[in-house]
Amino acid sequence: MVKESTSPLVKHMVNQLRDAHCDAFRFRWILKELAKQLLAECCGVLPLMERKIPTWQGNFVGSFVDESRITCVCILRAALPMQDGVLEVLGEAEGGFLAMKRDEQTHESRLYYDRIPDISGKTVIVVDPMVATGGSLHDALALLKERQPKQIISLNAIGAREGVERIEKAFPDVDLHIAQIDPTLNKDAYIVPGLGDAGDRAYNTI
Ligand code: PRP
Ligand code: URA
Repeated sequence: MVKESTSPLVKHMVNQLRDAHCDAFRFRWILKELAKQLLAECCGVLPLMERKIPTWQGNFVGSFVDESRITCVCILRAALPMQDGVLEVLGEAEGGFLAMKRDEQTHESRLYYDRIPDISGKTVIVVDPMVATGGSLHDALALLKERQPKQIISLNAIGAREGVERIEKAFPDVDLHIAQIDPTLNKDAYIVPGLGDAGDRAYNTI
């Protein structure tokens, strides 16, 4: 299931990311806050639990997100600020890392680092700002599914329509929450209008 945000605040954040004058520090900050907004949009599918806590009025039983059942996986490197945002809200969740790099010629992604804890039976939140051809996210989801999580949620900033449709077709059971779907890719497989290279924008390597 793909859900594109309709929140004016989310659109406001995405459009600030597109601005060529948005420097790396602010770019990372917006990605982090955007991830929190997208997390709020997907919270209906997060695992919940009842917990008894002491309060100034005695014990109180309330509903909490079961953070111990959640692993947030980031696809390095541009997704690091998004993972920070999710883990700021869900402080007891685990973090996992997949490093992938697109080949500039073939546009195929290549996995070069994998540090994922045991995710069997867990809720996995994958973060990656960009879904261009969808190749990186496709390979990440295929790898994660092999490890038998209970469910996978993907939080993304901008996707090209064809990349998002590719993911939806291959993984109809993944809940993909995306801030903005853009119309197309250019000949170098960059999203248009997009925001350029998210990793370079975030880490000042343009
Ligand atoms: C970017 C982005 C995605 C990928 C999307 O990463 O963060 O992971 O490209 O493109 P795709 O949908 O066509 O696979 P990149 O490979 O540039 O690595 P980086 O984050 O280290 O810059
Ligand atoms: N990766 C990016 O960071 N941006 C794009 O537009 C495509 C792939």
